[in-house]
Amino acid sequence: MHLYTNPKSHFAARSKTATPIYLLTKHELKGKQHGLGKTVLAWAQTTGFAGESGQVCLVPGDHGKIECVLFGLGSGSGDGKAMAHAKLARTLPKAKYSFSEDRGNAGLDQIAWALGGYSFDRYRARKHKTPQLASKPDADAHRIIEGVFFTRDLINTPASDMGPDKLETAFRMLARNHQAKVKVIKGDALIKQNFPMVHAVGRASVTAPRVLDLKWGKANHPKVTLVGKGVTFDTGGLNIKPGSSMALMKKDMGGAANVMGLAHMIMDAKLPVRLRLIVGAVENSIAGNAFRPGDVLASRKGLSVEIGNTDAEGRLVLGDLLALGDEEKPQLMIDMATLTGAARVALGPDLPPFYTDDDQFAAELVDQAQSINDPLWRMPLWAPYQSMLASKIADVNHISSCGFAGSVTAALFLSRFVEKAESWTHFDIFGWTPSEKPWAPVGGEAQCIRTLYAVLKNRASR
Ligand code: BES
Ligand code: MN
Ligand code: ZN
Repeated sequence: MHLYTNPKSHFAARSKTATPIYLLTKHELKGKQHGLGKTVLAWAQTTGFAGESGQVCLVPGDHGKIECVLFGLGSGSGDGKAMAHAKLARTLPKAKYSFSEDRGNAGLDQIAWALGGYSFDRYRARKHKTPQLASKPDADAHRIIEGVFFTRDLINTPASDMGPDKLETAFRMLARNHQAKVKVIKGDALIKQNFPMVHAVGRASVTAPRVLDLKWGKANHPKVTLVGKGVTFDTGGLNIKPGSSMALMKKDMGGAANVMGLAHMIMDAKLPVRLRLIVGAVENSIAGNAFRPGDVLASRKGLSVEIGNTDAEGRLVLGDLLALGDEEKPQLMIDMATLTGAARVALGPDLPPFYTDDDQFAAELVDQAQSINDPLWRMPLWAPYQSMLASKIADVNHISSCGFAGSVTAALFLSRFVEKAESWTHFDIFGWTPSEKPWAPVGGEAQCIRTLYAVLKNRASR
């Protein structure tokens, strides 16, 4: 997997000489349990360290060394608290550190450390020097970190180095690492093999559109199918985006990047599932052969689809891919996509909405998300709004005529392509950290896949 950022640089073997980090709530700092000496406490007082949330205090030792690091946890509650200390991995000087006590969640502490310390260095002459945690993650924490790094790297790579062809290369590498079978359908073959909407969206690009299809695992295990929107750049097509909206559109393959990161976790853990991973790798470009507003497209499912706006391309790609996945009646089908700006209007960049009719699966997701700081929020597949997708000349329009409920109507459009799957869940993600978080620098982000992995792992162990 190490064409991509390697988690190993963030960790070192256990060591007695590692500088201890004390994680302290305000309350704990006032108490005596922490075992800190008088001089250290005096230094904390002198420098104004009160255990406030996010406060850092470097305590000097002999010979110019750092004796220990104090990190404030504030009241110890609140969103993101499980990973607040992750910012140390980005801000501490390069050295070896260890947490002073085992808080019973070493795996999550290590994941937080790596996520916070991540740096995308592909295009830099000088590689980032990172502090190391003197405690190596176990296999499970390691595969989770690898999956997230893989996702972030894929998103961060600009479209000039991550077109549909390069996304295919990354997809094949993932398959090879886990001895999975890959099928790729590309260019005109998409017409012959009945992916009219994938072809229509991607045909104006100089890099041919393609469907990437991976299968892994034993045929008799439950079928889990992951589907990802891999629009490697979204100009908006003929309904071209204004510059400010186009600036970040290298991240429009964020859904694909996320399901690929999740697939790595699943296959690396050898979860007892028959995994299928389907990605639509296309570029929404502008040329004389681009699809147009007002066109009517055929679809794999057989529905005719009226095009209201060529910038609503993701749902077209996903429609054909979901129809494909649906054909083998999977037990679980999950799609992820940077699908709508409206999802951000509703919930902001850090809280991805998901849609499903499967109450049990929704409950398991919500249950896992909170404790591992990988949040999500259920939104409704509100059937009455299907009428907003009515078309005067085709079976369905791919966008709503009125502009309300943009994320909901996009999900409802997708639902038209799913019939046989026993359970289907759709994630409308942002795939990006727009302002720095303790556990994430600005850039591509994995969203909901640590939670999804936790749910799938949990199901496998029952
Ligand atoms: N990739 C965009 C959605 C997007 C934009 C996600 C910004 C995250 C951040 C998608 O293809 C798109 O352009 N959607 C349109 C749909 C509209 C034309 C109905 C949108 O949301 O504006
Ligand atoms: Mn678009
Ligand atoms: Zn898009």
